[in-house]
Amino acid sequence: MRKLTYFIACSVDGFIGDPDGDASAMYPFVDEEFLAFLTSEYPETVATQGRRALGIDDLENKRFDTIIQGRGSYDVALKEGIPSPYAHLREYVASRTLAESPDPNVEIIADDLVGTVRALKSEDSRYGIYLCGGSRLAGDLLDEIDELVIKTYPIVYGSGMPMFGSGFAVSEFTLQSVRTFANGVLVRTYDRKR
Ligand SMILES: NC(=O)c1ccc[n+]([C@@H]2O[C@H](COP(=O)([O-])OP(=O)(O)OC[C@H]3O[C@@H](n4cnc5c(N)ncnc54)[C@H](OP(=O)(O)O)[C@@H]3O)[C@@H](O)[C@H]2O)c1
Repeated sequence: MRKLTYFIACSVDGFIGDPDGDASAMYPFVDEEFLAFLTSEYPETVATQGRRALGIDDLENKRFDTIIQGRGSYDVALKEGIPSPYAHLREYVASRTLAESPDPNVEIIADDLVGTVRALKSEDSRYGIYLCGGSRLAGDLLDEIDELVIKTYPIVYGSGMPMFGSGFAVSEFTLQSVRTFANGVLVRTYDRKR
C-alpha cells in the first residue's frame, strides 16, 4: 500500500489559514532557504504556476504522483482561472457539487471518497499520494492518513481554519523527523501508529 500524506502549512497554534482559510500571512516565510528545501525535497507540492515562475517546470516528481484536494482548496486556483493547478500530478478534487471537471487532468470524486482513496492507495507505484487539504477534506480522510508533513510557520492566528475539520477523536502518530530553518519555520514528519 502506498501512503496518503497530509502535507500542510500551519501557524504555531495549528491553523491552516485565517477563519476563511486564507494562508497568505505564511507566504513571507518561504524565503530562499525554505524554498530550496521545498524544491529539492517536495518539488511536486509547488503549484504549476509557481514552478513556471521559478523556472523549475521540468523538475521530476520526488515523492508524489497524485494529489487530492477538496473543492474549497481547488476553488482558490479555479477563481484565478487555473483549472489544473498541479498539472504535473494526477489531480483529484472531492466535490458533490461540481457537475463536471473543468479540466481533463482533474477527476472529480463525488461519491465514496474513502473507497476511492483506498483504491488509489492500493495502486502499485513508488510514489505516494499528496493530500493537499483543506480542512474539511482532511477531516473526512483523517483515518486514511498514513503520514503527516507539517510545515509550521512562526506566527499565531488566535483562531482560524483548523488542520482537521472533524469531531474530537485521538489519533496517534510517531515523530520521524524535525527540520528547522533559520527563519523559524519547522517541518515535522510523523507516521501513523497502526
Ligand atoms: N495552509 C495550507 O497549507 C492549506 C492547504 C490547502 C488548503 N488551504 C486552505 O483551506 C481552505 C479550504 O478548506 P475547506 O475546509 O474550506 O475546504 P476543502 O476541505 O478544501 O473542501 C471542502 C469541500 O470538499 C468537498 N468534500 C469534502 N468531503 C467530501 C466527501 N466526503 N465527498 C465528496 N466531496 C467532499 C465538498 O465540496 P462540495 O461543496 O463541492 O460538495 C466540500 O465542500 C482554502 O481557503 C485554502 O486556502 C490551506
